[in-house]
Amino acid sequence: MSDERYSLIDPTSARRLELPVLEPTLGPNVLSLAGLYSHSGVFTYDPGFGATASCTSNITYVDGEKGILLYRGYPIEQLAEHSTFIEVAYLLLHGELPTAEQLQAFDHSIRTHTMLNESLLRFFNGFHHNAHPMAMVSGVVASMSAFYHDTTDIQMEHDRDVFAHRIIAKIPTIAAAAYKHSKGQPFVYPLNRLDYCSNMLHMFFSVPSDSYEVDPVAAQALDLLFILHADHEQNCSTSTVRLAGSSGTNPYAAIAAGISALWGPAHGGANEAVINMLEEIGSAKHIGKYIARAKDRNDPFRLMGFGHRVYKNYDPRATIIRKMCHRLLEQLKASDTPLFELALRLEEVALRDDYFIEKNLYPNVDFYSGIIYRALGIPKSMFTVMFAIARCVGWVTHWREMVADPGTRIGRPRQLYVGPPSRNYRAIGEREEAA
Ligand code: ACO
Repeated sequence: MSDERYSLIDPTSARRLELPVLEPTLGPNVLSLAGLYSHSGVFTYDPGFGATASCTSNITYVDGEKGILLYRGYPIEQLAEHSTFIEVAYLLLHGELPTAEQLQAFDHSIRTHTMLNESLLRFFNGFHHNAHPMAMVSGVVASMSAFYHDTTDIQMEHDRDVFAHRIIAKIPTIAAAAYKHSKGQPFVYPLNRLDYCSNMLHMFFSVPSDSYEVDPVAAQALDLLFILHADHEQNCSTSTVRLAGSSGTNPYAAIAAGISALWGPAHGGANEAVINMLEEIGSAKHIGKYIARAKDRNDPFRLMGFGHRVYKNYDPRATIIRKMCHRLLEQLKASDTPLFELALRLEEVALRDDYFIEKNLYPNVDFYSGIIYRALGIPKSMFTVMFAIARCVGWVTHWREMVADPGTRIGRPRQLYVGPPSRNYRAIGEREEAA
């Protein structure tokens, strides 16, 4: 806490209120409003939480003005270049990079928790073949709360660790089962000798009737995408996990709530929406028309994969993914180059347009990620599921931080009520006709 104080004058009583200022390690100072209501009788109003810190956290830092993203203090660019998804998962969960021994033990634990209870696998039969995979994944993850009762005491550190390892290990198996169900193909069991991303590709693409070799280029690309998507401080889905978890609910249920929040097109669903948009635009000659639509206040169309609540500069993850697209499409000899070229052209036109310049709208993490997923053979409807697999690490890390914090209270925002004032019930015969 800083010595600084912010003063507010209550206009009715002319009383001065002193608000303490909290100092972060990085980023702007934060006014503590914890005692505001009890001292002044007023609430604060901040729709969309644009200026509200909902918790203290020491996991991830984002500087939206400068385009900086740090996991536990490490720049995303360095982690993307030198680390692996499993090492990043350890870093996020434990706060420090692992020693060789710690990494080996963590990797072993994740590899040996990949199988699903057979009853859980049977849940998929209840879904129609064309169910959206996000619906299946959130449903099955929520169903995990009906299992593991002996190891889900959230007050026990050991149980919290077991939960973290289980959900991180099993979510690719659940995602692959959702994919196989939608294809009408048999589920493929995990092969624990494979690393995290190779195992996921194996469960997605191998079939019993043929041999399948995981392409190491594809596994590496996925690993990098997963690093970039692993955490992003108090975004919509992470805040949802925290809010649901703050009631003390079963942690699998809290993660399922996060998966549901991620699905929306304003959040993780944007990667699917970007490809739909690029396909609809079809050719560079139509870009002008779509840019005009995005700028038209009367048209609900938005440039998907553009804009971010926090980044008012290029999203550092988009910079890495954009570079990766160039390399990967060449290495995989993918046929999606025209779509990538269209995306590059669209970005170029938007970034020169006054509307996008004035509103600081830049490509976000989702603008290019779908192009890579497509080049890896992953269908559009699975893109947001890929995001969920990676973000699961962030959700679990935030959930653990919150549960372990003795100062955590149930999340319970207040409101600015604008409904009718108090009134008396009227019998049906005494009500006026609606106008
Ligand atoms: N295309 C056109 N105009 C846009 C776009 C866009 N993609 N994004 C924002 N704007 C405009 C808005 O119309 C608004 O204009 P106004 O001030 O004239 O009303 C202004 O920019 C500010 O936009 P808000 O919606 O108020 O910004 P907010 O921070 O609430 O929303 C969001 C951020 C949801 C990401 C928004 O930029 C958007 O809808 N982008 C497209 C969807 C997308 O790519 N989502 C993925 C985000 S990254 C992630 O979650 C992983």
